[in-house]
Amino acid sequence: MTSKRIVLGITGGIAAYKSADLVRRLRERGAEVQVVMTAGAREFITPTTLQAVSHRPVRDSLWDAAAEAAMGHIELARWADLVLVAPATANFMAKLAHGAADDLLTTLCLATKAPVVLAPAMNWAMWEHPATQANKDLLEERGVRLLGPGEGALAESESGVGRMLEPIEIAEAVMSPRIDPALRGVEVVVTAGPTREPIDPVRFISNRSSGKMGYAVARALAEQGAKVTLISGPVALAPPAGVKVQYVESAADMYDAVIHRLEQMDMFVGTAAVADYSPASPAVTKIKKEKGSMELSLARTRDILATVASSGRPIFTVGFAAETNDLETHARNKLRSKKLDMVAANWVGEGRGFDADSNALQVFWPGGSTEIPQDDKLVVARRLVSLIAAHYRRRQEG
Ligand code: PMT
Repeated sequence: MTSKRIVLGITGGIAAYKSADLVRRLRERGAEVQVVMTAGAREFITPTTLQAVSHRPVRDSLWDAAAEAAMGHIELARWADLVLVAPATANFMAKLAHGAADDLLTTLCLATKAPVVLAPAMNWAMWEHPATQANKDLLEERGVRLLGPGEGALAESESGVGRMLEPIEIAEAVMSPRIDPALRGVEVVVTAGPTREPIDPVRFISNRSSGKMGYAVARALAEQGAKVTLISGPVALAPPAGVKVQYVESAADMYDAVIHRLEQMDMFVGTAAVADYSPASPAVTKIKKEKGSMELSLARTRDILATVASSGRPIFTVGFAAETNDLETHARNKLRSKKLDMVAANWVGEGRGFDADSNALQVFWPGGSTEIPQDDKLVVARRLVSLIAAHYRRRQEG
């Protein structure tokens, strides 16, 4: 976590006076902090103070030619490992929810591929307003993480929910690995890797899945306190820490292992590349070569994901979709036809998806979608898991 590069956005609320302390807390924990202020924020705290504590010139305009020449706003968006906006006003949340890019900070938030975290701060009535609540839900659905607001004394001698969390709480939350309470103790079954469909005792049909994506998802879920059982096809990977692994060979074995756990399952994540077809009658002894060609009769395997999703047992079912063309159409079809809560789609082929160390996902759910950009599979898995957690939490809340 040392030398994490944070763009700290400060918007125009009274809690902006705490931002200097927040910069200090982040730097104490090893972060490099680049402050970006909105025009409103300047009414509450001066750039001079923030420059002094951050040891970097403060950025506050899209039209500052000298600053842009040193590091353009798109470069700055790419520089960030994290964009943290604290305080985030109701107006800023509304702009972000609706994709506005009318100043440096909103533009950065749209241009960055880094995680975006908001620490909202506003009057309690503004926080409770249905428009703000709808914007909050929309932002969370897209993977934006909200810290707070807390409850307590507000400006205008009122109290209620709307207080920005204390700088130390925000710094701790963004600089230390986080456990999402939504997933603590949740029983999750994850499938990973390829399956092997026997032709005879020595030959099989399989695919290029290495299991890396599924193992990363299992690890990321376990990091968040979920009780994870990984049903793994044959792979050459070490079991992820804190995860129970059951190894299987064929699609039929994987089906049996998953269905056996159906009753205990709160969530199912199908990352395995399960064979859709299997030799109809595998030979008992090794098939001898003969002159001419041979034909192999294949039978459809049972669809594990569709069976689980239609069983009504897990509260949440996530499928993957590996596509070489028309990714969105195929992914949306799988979401609908298999009655899933979420589908994570990836391009495969030519070094993409299968067996690579990195991946990118387009994630779809009924009524929404988001992108997780190309990164190491563990980083991508962690982002997918925080999205799953936000949707799972909402499902639990009814
Ligand atoms: O293992 P890696 O090398 O890291 O590669 C990762 C990956 C590309 C395999 C992974 O990210 C991925 O896309 N997994 C799903 C692969 C796949 O089989 O996709 P599909 O579109 O054919 O299947 C759709 C969904 O149905 C998947 O969740 C699959 O697990 C599930 N399925 C399919 C057939 C079947 N009989 N039972 C199933 O459960």
